[in-house]
Amino acid sequence: MTADRGGSITVRVPAKINLHLSIGDLRPDGYHDLVTVFQALDLYDDVQISPAARMSVTTIGATGVPTGLKNLAGKAAKLLATRTGAGGPVAIRIHKQIPVAGGMAGGSADAAATLVGCAALWDLDLTRQELGEIAGELGSDVPFALAGGTAVGTGRGEKIAPVLRAGNTQHWVLAVADGGLSTPEVFAELDRLRAVGEVPRVGPVDEVLAALVDGSAAALADVIGNDLQAAAISLQPGLRRTLHAASQEGALAAIVSGSGPTIAILCQDADHAAGLAVELAGRDVCRSVRVARGPVHGARVVPTPV
Ligand code: C5P
Repeated sequence: MTADRGGSITVRVPAKINLHLSIGDLRPDGYHDLVTVFQALDLYDDVQISPAARMSVTTIGATGVPTGLKNLAGKAAKLLATRTGAGGPVAIRIHKQIPVAGGMAGGSADAAATLVGCAALWDLDLTRQELGEIAGELGSDVPFALAGGTAVGTGRGEKIAPVLRAGNTQHWVLAVADGGLSTPEVFAELDRLRAVGEVPRVGPVDEVLAALVDGSAAALADVIGNDLQAAAISLQPGLRRTLHAASQEGALAAIVSGSGPTIAILCQDADHAAGLAVELAGRDVCRSVRVARGPVHGARVVPTPV
């Protein structure tokens, strides 16, 4: 794929949720070994990459997002240039729809999109695997944002393998909370809680994989779970109300997404999700409500809007 006549490339990249997130011990490098099942949802950021006199990162549709090299997307462009000896300064414009600091890997998604966009702009001949290795250096969730679909993640989350699953779609409502949670702080809170007492742990990942093969929403609802949930609630106790409201409104299941504070609510089908979203929006338990479905593709080039 080459750049359009304006010399820009646009990449659309999905949000993720974790259907399963099992956290192991703190490693000497400051990360935790984990086993997760990611699913990419049809809630996208569009990242536009253009050649420029100097590097910049700007965001449209959200506040509080770092600019320049403080943004992971800026780091992604720089790392790709360093690794390949190609490229030059780029202007990165991020049209944000993925909640910021919401536990849906929006920053990681923008970095993945930047890798795909710069590789296209610079005509790099890299395989997805080579791009995936660079992605893993940028952050634990970046390789999955490249891959999309439904996938198992191991290591610190950066080792990705697709899962066998029935071909159906999962329907979700996302309750986006006020404010965000810092991923390192949520992991540290889990370590603290585990040091002072028993914290419930999710069941085996095999149960989630079997439910995905089965394909029924009810089977999946029985087994989704997140070890970081207790820590996210400990830091943001209001999440309990959101989880409770979701179950009162007929959710099949509701869990904290990743490190939170977004709550992912599993629904039976599209109608169920639409109805539940309306009911939840009428209650004062979150900042906004979104309907989403998955799985969807990973980061890919789309036509640049004129
Ligand atoms: O990999 P990423 O930069 O997204 O991770 C952000 C932070 O989340 C890490 O610095 C670490 O504190 C925590 N983390 C972790 N174990 C993981 C992934 C992330 O402790 N597997």
